[in-house]
Amino acid sequence: MNQIEVCLSTNLFDCYDHKGKIVVVVDVLRATSVVCTMMHNGVKEIIPVKGIEEAREYKEKGYLVVAERNGQKLDFADFGNSPFYFTKDVVGGKTIVYSTTNGTNAITIGKNAEQVIIGSFLNFQAAVDYLSEQKKDILILCSGWKGKFCLEDSLLAGAIAKCLIDSGEFSTKCDSVNASIDLWSLAKVDMKSYLGKVAQRHRLKKLGLDNVIGYCFTMDVTNVVPILKGDRIVPHIVYES
Ligand code: MLT
Repeated sequence: MNQIEVCLSTNLFDCYDHKGKIVVVVDVLRATSVVCTMMHNGVKEIIPVKGIEEAREYKEKGYLVVAERNGQKLDFADFGNSPFYFTKDVVGGKTIVYSTTNGTNAITIGKNAEQVIIGSFLNFQAAVDYLSEQKKDILILCSGWKGKFCLEDSLLAGAIAKCLIDSGEFSTKCDSVNASIDLWSLAKVDMKSYLGKVAQRHRLKKLGLDNVIGYCFTMDVTNVVPILKGDRIVPHIVYES
């Protein structure tokens, strides 16, 4: 029986043995929702970079750069981090350099695992089906907020874990999994009002960027599972839609 664990923040990552496991990076608001949207709209590949200077160097080399910090677009970047920017005509066939406050950090720290995939509500069933197929131990890595716990990522971690455990193919001895599943069971009853508790929602609201919340919590918009191959994230289509 394969095992599932949840790492509730990137600051806890070293507490987990990720060797030989599939690390599922989640950042509902907004990084992994953005990556899945770009993939759904035909981006060729995404280069996740941790540092601002590294992103700026790519810009100077002529790359298309999407970069934000604290929710705001960086001055040298072509785009900020709203999934609504990344339509087919903007990202189709392109290579995009990507740097965010939390999500790209989580993607890059997991790179020594067996594999790193990108999870969101937008590719929920595709990600669950892909993980079932792989039959490997899983570590769901919540990007959090600057090393701290965040509600929205734990809700998604709980939803994914519950689905896989209910399938009978996975089990867990991890308290963070059970806590995430309990949170999900509590929140899903009335997600709309529960989201009022989410700090990132209030941060985005202050910036006038909260129009993406409903979309980022929409299930199964795409059948693509983005996978990290070397230093690039590339699309993996789980089933023809
Ligand atoms: C992140 O990666 O830190 C988040 O996605 C931040 C954001 O989009 O505001």
